[in-house]
Amino acid sequence: MRFVPVHGLMEGMAVGKSLYDINHKLLLSQGSVITRTYIDRIVQLGYQGIYIDDNLSADIEVKDVIRDELRMKAIQSLKEAFIYTDLETKGGQKQVKDKIDITKMMITNIVEDILENKDTMINLIDLKFFDDYTFFHSVNVAVLSILVGVELGLMREQLFNLGLAAILHDIGKIYIDKDILNKPSKLTSEEYAIIKKHSEFGYNYLKETYEIPSAAYVAVLQHHEQYDGQGYPSGKIKEEISLLGRIICLCDVYDALTSNRPYRKQLLPSEAMEYIMANGGVMFDVKLTKIFARKVAPFPVGTYVRLSNGFVGIVSENFEEACMRPRVKIVLDRQGKRIMPRIVDLKNDRYLRNVTITGINDIIS
Ligand SMILES: [Fe+2]
Repeated sequence: MRFVPVHGLMEGMAVGKSLYDINHKLLLSQGSVITRTYIDRIVQLGYQGIYIDDNLSADIEVKDVIRDELRMKAIQSLKEAFIYTDLETKGGQKQVKDKIDITKMMITNIVEDILENKDTMINLIDLKFFDDYTFFHSVNVAVLSILVGVELGLMREQLFNLGLAAILHDIGKIYIDKDILNKPSKLTSEEYAIIKKHSEFGYNYLKETYEIPSAAYVAVLQHHEQYDGQGYPSGKIKEEISLLGRIICLCDVYDALTSNRPYRKQLLPSEAMEYIMANGGVMFDVKLTKIFARKVAPFPVGTYVRLSNGFVGIVSENFEEACMRPRVKIVLDRQGKRIMPRIVDLKNDRYLRNVTITGINDIIS
């Protein structure tokens, strides 16, 4: 399987990983062949690209840490929880408790999936589409946070609290004017001050309304506090911020950076990882940044990379202990010509120690 950005998609390619539409229903199942109509639909939904299967990449396996359908169900249940919460705050229907209960169940399932796959790294290029950014993002933050929590050796109950806080971290945004939230241009200082209230709004709402463990709603309050005291709402510093709050802060920033936003183009995983590492001990707890770098691949499996010796290949495997040194299936020579593919192992081959990855390559079809 390999990742093909939308501009490289061609009719006749076979889908490697199922795709979902705006209602989180199956749009294209694994193995189906794409047509021009589907390519247009994929572009319209705002997908950055899709995974495809072909002979070149048949031996490359891309594994997720949770099941596809669980991810989609979690996104859908969260969306409903937000919609009903919004209605409730406006005096509407009272169905939120059920929706929050479903979200709690989703978190329990996500924790179990991640515990089962705890040796797996995050190797996926994330496929979000524009409209449901908040829900895709929140589920991702939950998955990333639980993964970090598992590495830290947290118990199931703490993992549940962590996941619940992570998936609901931005629920306070329902109280913020949508025009400010979705503003494509720079915010004024007044608008930014309004947005910054969302963590307190979320904390108050969860604390007063639901049976949610205090560790979870405190983490919602603290998810924008920074390790050096420069965050909000309280400017707390280092361990004054709860462990769960520190984890969510890091995962929230990473996932936001790797997403397309109205005001900013997404960063590559490798670029976002550099930002995270550079902020270890500044914005983030350095111990957590190190764990994060072990579990999230800067060059995910299935992506094309350029090497410093001029060759181009597809990442075929990542190693937790050496995230910058994956195994790569070389497919193009220095002149950009197709060659008989061969695997190079940047981690273990001592003759390749001076070869580095210089970047992600534009698509080769
Ligand atoms: Fe937030």
